[in-house]
Amino acid sequence: MNDFDVARIRARMPALASGVAFFDGPGGTQLPDVVAEAMRMAMTEPLSNRGTMTQSERNAESIVVGSRRAAAELLGCDPAGVVFARSMTEATFMVARTLANDWGPGDRVVVTDLDHDANVRPWVTYAEKAGAEVAWARLDPTTGELPTSHIVDQITDNTRLVSVTGASNVVGTRPDLPAIAEAAHAVNALFFVDGVHLTAHAPIDVEQIGADFYACSAYKFLGPHLGIIAASSAVWESLHPDKLAPSTEQVPERFELGTLPYELLAGLIAAVDVLADLVPGGETSMTRRDRLVRSMTALAQHEDHLHARLRSALEDLPGITMYAHAQRRTPTEFFTFDGWDSAEVAHRLADKQINAPAGSFYAYEPCRSLGLGSGGAIRAGLAPYTDESDVDRLIAALRDIVVT
Ligand SMILES: Cc1ncc(COP(=O)(O)O)c(C=O)c1O
Repeated sequence: MNDFDVARIRARMPALASGVAFFDGPGGTQLPDVVAEAMRMAMTEPLSNRGTMTQSERNAESIVVGSRRAAAELLGCDPAGVVFARSMTEATFMVARTLANDWGPGDRVVVTDLDHDANVRPWVTYAEKAGAEVAWARLDPTTGELPTSHIVDQITDNTRLVSVTGASNVVGTRPDLPAIAEAAHAVNALFFVDGVHLTAHAPIDVEQIGADFYACSAYKFLGPHLGIIAASSAVWESLHPDKLAPSTEQVPERFELGTLPYELLAGLIAAVDVLADLVPGGETSMTRRDRLVRSMTALAQHEDHLHARLRSALEDLPGITMYAHAQRRTPTEFFTFDGWDSAEVAHRLADKQINAPAGSFYAYEPCRSLGLGSGGAIRAGLAPYTDESDVDRLIAALRDIVVT
């Protein structure tokens, strides 16, 4: 039996009172009331910069310590290796710029055309500046898969970094990360994983994945707009980012430019607590990490079930072309209709209070490889608060629009 109760999480989502059915979770989820409240509290209680002397300093300190712990429990990593940034994009540029200080001609970096541009352009930009070579692992456009062999074949002895998405933000494909990690580590390359889309849909264990860096963004999993990047403290210790002279040399702070957004960190703690509580119980007998794994496993099962309903109903719609076919993937569909401009369909859905926008969603390379222009396709993704009635509404609305 699955203990995930969608009505329970829906009751926590003030935005649902609007009557909108939200299928735009892959672009950003709605916010639970307790997350907004945690941010309000952080900003209305005494708050100064981190320190130990005053209550307001201690409040900032405890938010930072608590948010690193919360992120670490969500991702299965060491709190001392959690770095916060404005967004995943910003964090990835920072890591690419820092790693590339040590790259030069003869070095190689492997990226993929399954990835969001945030996990492509930073590597390509800094590899080119350093004179290093960029190798591409290509997805199979007929299946939407990124076969492991396509990546492994690009990994040579001079490869310094392999960067792959945990799951595509348009077609949901989930590459075999542990197998790729093994191939990268066999040549002493670092393995960077873009977990932005994946983290919202599955229990994550960075160690088991074998990622040297794992990046994600809290606004994709019921949290505020905040980027997170996890690595071991040993990896961070070996790197020296551009930084201000008086700012600390300590890790992970050395990588966090300027003052941290304490209110967003407070929101992150609350969001992780909400995720841990998707399946209630065990607050006193289980660790939060164990509760997170239990909840995210139950959420994944629930989403698989709902996804099957969405998928088979979409397949029955006339004139539809679907682009997401991988065996292992998140509950995210990407599709067009013959004779229809996808933006027009999305517009008509919006008129019916259904958010399923069209575009390429910065999945610039995947859209090119799938033969889609910059207009991309319509994307419908499930989130923890999506229920069967949302799915049925989307299908009925699409039928209404395309069967005229
Ligand atoms: C798979 C994936 N990677 C990276 C990003 C970029 O994240 P951020 O907005 O935090 O920079 C996104 C955002 O949509 C995404 O979906």
